[in-house]
Amino acid sequence: MSIKNDRRNFIKLGCAGASILITWPLFQSCANANSNEEPLKLNPDFKPDLDIELTATEREIGLFDGEKTKCWSFKSELIKGEPGSLQQTPDSYLGPTIKVRKGQKIRIRFKNELQEESIVHWHGMHVPEEYDGHPTDVISNGETYVYEYEVMNRAGTYWYHPHPHGRTGPQVYNGLAGMLLVTDKKEDNLGLPTGEFDRSVVIQDRSIDNNNQLVYLDGGRMDRMNGFLGDEIFVNGRPEQELSLKAGCNYRLRVLNGSNSRIYKLAWDNGEPLTVIGVDGSILEQSKEMPYLMLAPAERIDIWLDLKNKKQGDEIELKSLAFESGMMGGMMNGGMMNADNTRLPLGSEYSLFKIKMNGSGSNDFLLPEKLVAYNSLDPNTAINKNNPREFNFFMQRMQWTINGRTWEARGVAEEETVKLNTTEIWQFSNKGGNMMGGNGMMGDGGMMDGGGGMMGRGSEDGGMGNMMQMPHPVHIHQVQFNVLERDTSEMDPSVWESIKDGFIDEGWQDTVLLMPGMEIKVIMHFSDFKGLFLYHCHNLEHEDMGMMRNFKIT
Ligand code: C2O
Ligand code: CU
Ligand code: CU
Repeated sequence: MSIKNDRRNFIKLGCAGASILITWPLFQSCANANSNEEPLKLNPDFKPDLDIELTATEREIGLFDGEKTKCWSFKSELIKGEPGSLQQTPDSYLGPTIKVRKGQKIRIRFKNELQEESIVHWHGMHVPEEYDGHPTDVISNGETYVYEYEVMNRAGTYWYHPHPHGRTGPQVYNGLAGMLLVTDKKEDNLGLPTGEFDRSVVIQDRSIDNNNQLVYLDGGRMDRMNGFLGDEIFVNGRPEQELSLKAGCNYRLRVLNGSNSRIYKLAWDNGEPLTVIGVDGSILEQSKEMPYLMLAPAERIDIWLDLKNKKQGDEIELKSLAFESGMMGGMMNGGMMNADNTRLPLGSEYSLFKIKMNGSGSNDFLLPEKLVAYNSLDPNTAINKNNPREFNFFMQRMQWTINGRTWEARGVAEEETVKLNTTEIWQFSNKGGNMMGGNGMMGDGGMMDGGGGMMGRGSEDGGMGNMMQMPHPVHIHQVQFNVLERDTSEMDPSVWESIKDGFIDEGWQDTVLLMPGMEIKVIMHFSDFKGLFLYHCHNLEHEDMGMMRNFKIT
């Protein structure tokens, strides 16, 4: 074990310097090196209800007129299980939607046909350490990693994506992601829309060049600091921002923000509220009407859509409304570090997709008055109820850090070690930290080097702290948590004003949007599995730059 990990750590260090360069073009011409393929290590005692092969591979897809687009994509093959468990959208770069039930045993044989290392993570799922997709478990071209686990999660909307350190951003961007839907008994009893009336909608932003090819970061280091922002919205792995539904019917829309760093403020264009019935890892106790909804990268939202009073030919549009992101203090607006080098500046207003009622029909799915009453965790049961663990997300020496630390493959600090079978409160803050001090970002190795004096010296002692604050979607592996408290007292009031009605703090979640100045308390319980798991910022460029850490359950 340790030898294997040492080797991997060594390889990682060896590549660290180069990881800043994004490998391009996507296709390299070396042949697959799978000549000495080892037999798969399948556990003979594990009897899967669903057994699939999931292969990360290079593909060319017709997304636009003319030249095909080179993508990376998960392709799948059903080895055992119900045919409906895998659903592929045609001509989409996204992987299949995988549908499972709580209690089912699933086996996934993840095969890597990319010319670089990868590993798959099941976002939001409660699985043993070896099946969580830890960056040190990466496999190379031609290798296969076998996952065998029982689905223990509640009914909810989960997803899967690669998780190699330093390359998650480009791998997801090139197309590697898919939905993972879990259902259970409690959900069955609700009679929510199923089949064609249960729709997944993955929203992502992409930039496309004149040859129809995907363009990742081209603005160098600053773009990575800020996170990738594309020029156009893709829906379900296609450029058409359109969904064709039937007038007269009720729908369940599960929306995933699958973008690398873009945050959306979702709203219907007709001013009607959004009816939310679920978040991340759970259905809510009761549906909730929201004027708009903030959806950060990796967050999912379950929306009830009533088209009963619509008629064929009608259209409604889901938009992202304008809001203040709070990240552009001071000089960030000046262009020099302009993150909004895109046709869709973060926080501007634009269309996400249109729902076109090309047909009509009827169904009798009704919105239940009561959904599912899951007991939330009681703060009094937390072993640290008066003393939450604190994690501050901030920049130091031009590095995104958590409590001043960056990624270490197997490293874990004392304050990142928890005990199995305990309930804890964690507090996330985005308050800038001690950046101005001697160890702060302006110290040696700070942002002034290489900046060529682009920044006035006068700015060194004022405003810099705020300037480098950004929203961070904070994600914890292995658990679903409840949000206990959101302290906004230190936020820029105009930022808060522009987003304040867009948060859902009910239900079970695995990702929360931590805005500049915000402090969030979450409560979670560690059960079943010991080991090293991750918590990180789900802005994938921040994550790749090291805003990711292990926590250890002992
Ligand atoms: Cu979806 Cu560790 O991430
Ligand atoms: Cu995750
Ligand atoms: Cu971040």
